Amino acid sequence: MDKFSIYKSYLKGEINVSGSKNACLPIMAATLLTDEECRMSNVPDLSDIRTMIKILEVLGKRIQFYQQKLVVKSKKVKRYTAPYRLVRTMRASFCVLGPLLAKRGKAKVSLPGGCVIGPRPVDLHIKGLKQLKARIRIEDGYCLADVKRLTGNHIFLGGHFGSSVLATTNILMAACLAKGETIIEYSACEPEIVALALFLKRMGADIEGEGTPLIRIKGKKRLGGAELRIIPDRIETGTFIAASLATGSPLIIKNARPSHLISVIEVAKQMGAKIKIKENSLIIKPPRIIKPTNITTLPYPGFPTDLQAQFMVPLILAGGVSLITEKVFPDRFMHVAELNRMGAKISRSGPYSIIEGVKKIYGAEVMASDLRASAALIIAGLAAERKTEVLRIYHLDRGYFKLEDKFRRLGARISRQKQ
Ligand code: EPZ
Repeated sequence: MDKFSIYKSYLKGEINVSGSKNACLPIMAATLLTDEECRMSNVPDLSDIRTMIKILEVLGKRIQFYQQKLVVKSKKVKRYTAPYRLVRTMRASFCVLGPLLAKRGKAKVSLPGGCVIGPRPVDLHIKGLKQLKARIRIEDGYCLADVKRLTGNHIFLGGHFGSSVLATTNILMAACLAKGETIIEYSACEPEIVALALFLKRMGADIEGEGTPLIRIKGKKRLGGAELRIIPDRIETGTFIAASLATGSPLIIKNARPSHLISVIEVAKQMGAKIKIKENSLIIKPPRIIKPTNITTLPYPGFPTDLQAQFMVPLILAGGVSLITEKVFPDRFMHVAELNRMGAKISRSGPYSIIEGVKKIYGAEVMASDLRASAALIIAGLAAERKTEVLRIYHLDRGYFKLEDKFRRLGARISRQKQ
């Protein structure tokens, strides 16, 4: 297993944001809705992307992936099972269920199980597909589904925590081949849903309302191939904003989509940053002393849960007390204990973390626990006195494309070593 050695660094310069993992994964699943060739560009070379490639190959696709371009073709053989050995490494694989069932009338997908950020239930996915008249049963940790042809319906998809991104993707994709019209009420509004809908419409789907809490789909008999350039990764963009704040380094972030980060830019400004926005770039000028603020994570367009850990780091060094409320994954605080070992003063109670600002934090050996917590620990290492070692960085490789190279190009003292 690899680890990072990191020293306090002042960053300078500009970075280019990569394509969005969370936009790409459902779009890759959508290729199951057709036997025609599909193409994607600006695809980040991440282990999650490679896991989805393996799952699609098991299901009968032939895939070429070279220089961030993905070409998906169909083999004659068609299979229906997405195996546990692959699904357990990436819960997002569950979004193959809807398209597989819609296109082939049959699907067997391993239930994703839980992870460190919390239980990852799929009740909304199953409820939605049942309302499209799929027959579904749970057996030996698998979700088995079959249907002659899905039938459109008016579906309420809200859960205890509001909307669900991947449940929306599963029902949206399935509805594209259902008989009649489907209305999804309380659908997720994330930019990744809008990107998926654009790809589906290029395949010939009839969709309205994507990006709002009510999406209307008129089912078609078949869909064709399509091509799409993957949108920039808003979470990677936000990660660099947090790094700029925590290290007091001005940064230029290019190939971004600032309009996907309004809530994040708002919080950064509350913390004292000056941010100049151009169409595809942001120029960040951090304050000398960070102002404390309160952050509540919410479904889009609220502050994204995927940036909660990263933004905790600059708040650790703020001149006052801040509160973070985690309303999407209330247990998503595995990084708190590690940050406290570096001298932070964070007290956690349920979905709340109270952060009392300190003047300095100090390097330590810390353990990454999940994708976004890993990024937070790197940012903390760049801001801490003395050396930090971040262990188990395979978590990071799941969702960030060459992050340490990007930081090194900005002047960061960070190196990867075999553990
Ligand atoms: C997507 O996961 C993202 N993953 C997550 O990013 C992100 O944190 C999450 O959305 C929230 O924005 C991908 O897009 C691949 P949800 P998803 O269903 O769709 C509850 C990362 O770091 N829920 O929107 O699985 C759930 O427990 C990853 O890139 C149900 O109750 O998340 C949570 O509390 C981590 N029942 C809330 O909804 C369900 O059937 C939102 O989860 C489904 C979800």
